[in-house]
Amino acid sequence: MAEQTEKINVTIDGKTIAVDPGTTILNAARIIGGDVVPPAMCYYSSLKGSGGKCRTCLVEVSKGSEKDPRPMPKLVASCSTPVMDGMEVKNKTSERVNDARHGVVEFLLINHPLDCPICDQAGECHLQDLAFEHGLEKTRYEFKRRTFDKIDIGEYIKLHMTRCILCYRCVYTADQLTNQREHGVMKRGDAAEISTYIQNALDNDFIGNVIDVCPVGALTDKTFRFRSRVWYTKPMDAHRDCKKCSGKAVAWMIGDEIARITARKDQFGEVKEFICNECRFDKKEKTDWVIEGPRHIDRHSVISANKYEDPIPEHTPLLNKA
Ligand code: SF4
Ligand code: FES
Repeated sequence: MAEQTEKINVTIDGKTIAVDPGTTILNAARIIGGDVVPPAMCYYSSLKGSGGKCRTCLVEVSKGSEKDPRPMPKLVASCSTPVMDGMEVKNKTSERVNDARHGVVEFLLINHPLDCPICDQAGECHLQDLAFEHGLEKTRYEFKRRTFDKIDIGEYIKLHMTRCILCYRCVYTADQLTNQREHGVMKRGDAAEISTYIQNALDNDFIGNVIDVCPVGALTDKTFRFRSRVWYTKPMDAHRDCKKCSGKAVAWMIGDEIARITARKDQFGEVKEFICNECRFDKKEKTDWVIEGPRHIDRHSVISANKYEDPIPEHTPLLNKA
């Protein structure tokens, strides 16, 4: 019989939970759920090596552990710091964290354009949500911003490098999900950029997933670009028989037409079952899919607006009966 490991206790924003040793503060917070969960722009639970780059998940450790109760002097990245028994952590309840998050958002926005009104990611963008909660009204940055031409990488994906926050998620996705990675982060420091060796070479069966893992609008789906604001679409769980992937997806519909296909994301914006390019880009007819029913959007963002899973429940009286 497998040996049972003893759980350890961690308290985050006053809520205590017992978790397995080795669990990170971020994952312990995700088990508790709700407000205590720090935002995460670069960590992605299914991608090995992700995390530790964006600093949005910083938290304050006000008590190190039962054995050594001293607080940690600096804020720590919750996505890569394991919990200790008796550890006490502050996220929402810490002024220091709040201040630091303001700074991180200001830093991320130094080069990121505020082009939400024309960006396809608007409404489901993690940086937009963060800027809404922690952003300043205007930038203090006085230098020239980085500019790049938009690049077609492959037949279906458009790269807006100006929007990229260099989280590396797409690089890990290509590395770990496809059989040949052809893009990566070139150069270093403020010259760093996502690039391909040959511009049109992102070509393999699962590369479309880089669009879903990108937390901002840097990688967009060319089959959906500018077709609709995402909050006007109706997400439906859908599936089809597919030889390459699970075939489980979300069909984002406008009326009776499928406007785009994405993988299914959880409440932290993460995909657990990645889908193939054929399902994502080539199957846009309603007859290609078995539509299961409305998708529950469990996210605090504009994307949740206008999503009625049960628009007129039987027990609800109609307010404005004509
Ligand atoms: S393109 Fe998107 S996923 Fe890739 S590093 Fe930039 S922000 Fe991250
Ligand atoms: S999510 Fe932890 S550093 Fe980016």
